[in-house]
Amino acid sequence: MGSKEDTPEGSPSATDLSSVTDAKRGIGDSLCYDSHVWHGANHGRFITFEGLDGCGKSTHLERLAGFLREQGLEVLTTREPGGTEIGERVRSILLDSRTQGLAPLAELALMFASRAQQISEVILPAMNRGTWVLCDRYTDSSEAYQGAGRQLGVDAVLTLHRVICLGLQPDLTLLLDNDVSASLARARRRNLATTGEGDENRFEQENRAFFERVHQQFLVIAKREPGRVALIDARRPMEAVHADVVAAVRERLLPGKG
Ligand code: TYD
Repeated sequence: MGSKEDTPEGSPSATDLSSVTDAKRGIGDSLCYDSHVWHGANHGRFITFEGLDGCGKSTHLERLAGFLREQGLEVLTTREPGGTEIGERVRSILLDSRTQGLAPLAELALMFASRAQQISEVILPAMNRGTWVLCDRYTDSSEAYQGAGRQLGVDAVLTLHRVICLGLQPDLTLLLDNDVSASLARARRRNLATTGEGDENRFEQENRAFFERVHQQFLVIAKREPGRVALIDARRPMEAVHADVVAAVRERLLPGKG
């Protein structure tokens, strides 16, 4: 799980933060998540959900949270961009279709600004308390949407991830895979329902080629990091998808709780 062998250039998993501390030393004390770095085995786990818009991530995230709470675990659910007061303000800039002319690199930087706040304010403190964190999207989305969709390049995204997130990787990523056409159909329905007041449809106005690139990159990530990423076919009925989500978590993070 998140082992150094199957993460890009040795990024640490959330359970292996000693190298985060080392990375921090390399880039200066101002970038410091140290106060939140845990030592010992009783920290929570970090699970992310990824996939195209409309793949059912949010529903499955909530269902998994319910399952984990039934196991007696403390669980916190959050999302990106957003998840903190500051991050939610950044989210509204990023997603509101009234935001015009945002440069692709500015978009990328804002995604990471929100993420840095979330890591510092939410993710690491929660895990330190022993709480499991379920996050709707994380750096894989930046790699897929900005790296591939916007064609900024994967290297730029992974470099920012190393610097801004100190390489913090989830213990497990559930990639809910569905078809681009299903995602586009949902985007069209959402756009029709838009009132013009403020919405979260800026990305959903992108064309099919954009989402094809995003989709392909998610598959590349799953292939590159099979130890971290569980690829789940989300074209099936909700119950079948949920069963696979739970199976992946049991197998990879709850051994012996079968
Ligand atoms: P989300 O709220 O998950 O939308 P949906 O419910 O439609 O799946 O994500 C908001 C949008 O932000 C989504 O279109 C993907 C985009 N996004 C990026 O482009 N890069 C990122 O790093 C993140 C976290 C999200």
